[in-house]
Amino acid sequence: MPLPLGRHPPMSKCLHYFCGAIRRVGLAMTCAVSTFTHAQTAPTYADVAPLFAQRCVVCHSGEQAAAKLRLDAHASVLAGGGRGPVVKPGNAAGSELIRRVKGQSQPRMPMTGPPWLSDAEVALLERWIDAGAQPAPSGGAAQASASPAAVLAPGPGEPVTWVHVAPVFAQRCAKCHTDGGQMGAPPEGFRLTSYASALDAADRARIVPGQPEASELLRRIRGQALPRMPMDGPPYLSANEIGLVQRWIEQGARGADGKAAAVPVGANVRLHGTFRSGSRLDDLALIVGPGARLDKAPALGQRAEVRGRLDAQGQVIVERIRAR
Ligand code: HEC
Ligand code: HEC
Repeated sequence: MPLPLGRHPPMSKCLHYFCGAIRRVGLAMTCAVSTFTHAQTAPTYADVAPLFAQRCVVCHSGEQAAAKLRLDAHASVLAGGGRGPVVKPGNAAGSELIRRVKGQSQPRMPMTGPPWLSDAEVALLERWIDAGAQPAPSGGAAQASASPAAVLAPGPGEPVTWVHVAPVFAQRCAKCHTDGGQMGAPPEGFRLTSYASALDAADRARIVPGQPEASELLRRIRGQALPRMPMDGPPYLSANEIGLVQRWIEQGARGADGKAAAVPVGANVRLHGTFRSGSRLDDLALIVGPGARLDKAPALGQRAEVRGRLDAQGQVIVERIRAR
């Protein structure tokens, strides 16, 4: 609910919310001080730009902006994304941007959340839009520029979390792996628009926490499993990006809160790769039990599809292997 003009909490309180949100994300960055002055005037773009910079532009900027929506300049915020405007000046409640940060439209933004925006931050955006989504006053240079590269890399000794890998998925994968994306339904029912959807193993696990070689997602971005992802590549992911995703999975596919995910014991996996000696799929040692079926047994060096289930350690108990 928008706060009435002039009844905004004191400056110190506002900054407290803002910095707290940044700390909760665990990003090693200085907490930008909002230029928001608490006069009786309505907020302008200069007041909301720091929030976009800290929480949104890592995905919503540049050539590969998520949903073709750039949130790094006043004009581009108003222009909207591939599906049209997301801000209706004078009508915060009818603006998709507000619906997304409140979770009234899914996936909720920022995609790196939780944490979501604080109530005070949402109220600031609502007040800005209700007051006409005004640009920064002339002279006040307000560019919501944050270097995506700087945010991507975890600090030395810091674990890789969802916060670091989500921008890669947002910029390179979510245009297809979402509902109503480039291909209509998400391919293979696999959504890459939230932490929960990325790790969802109800159909099968594409990410096995702690087991990069058993993770079809990593196989797809390396090109061990075909078709290689992103499907519209080349360009594919850079070696740095692939390394980042690999370390994220190795370290337990941690959420934005830094907690490692549990192995979905008993979940199905379907992996593609090259069959190697010693019952290996590339570098993955397969546990081939007595119940395993070998249809069209692959020869060594041949491409193969492996279906199986995960044991408590995230190892793959093979149910079926076939040449592809
Ligand atoms: C980690 C990447 C990421 C971050 C951070 C992020 N977004 Fe998004 N955003 C996406 C992706 C991916 C989509 C497209 C998802 C979909 O709708 O399927 C999207 C979609 C949106 C949409 C809908 C666009 C449309 O045309 O329907 C809005 C609005 C939006 N984001 C606003 C924000 C705001 C505001 C922030 C910051 C508070 C933010 N996003 C932070 C990745 C991100
Ligand atoms: C242009 C659309 C498009 C983009 C972009 C894209 N994908 Fe895909 N993805 C597909 C299609 C189509 C399939 C199904 C292909 C097949 O296996 O025949 C697929 C399949 C997958 C699968 C296998 C799912 C399963 O259940 O086995 C994974 C994992 C995957 N993609 C990950 C990614 C990742 C990670 C990215 C970004 C780096 C990405 N994709 C980008 C279209 C896309």
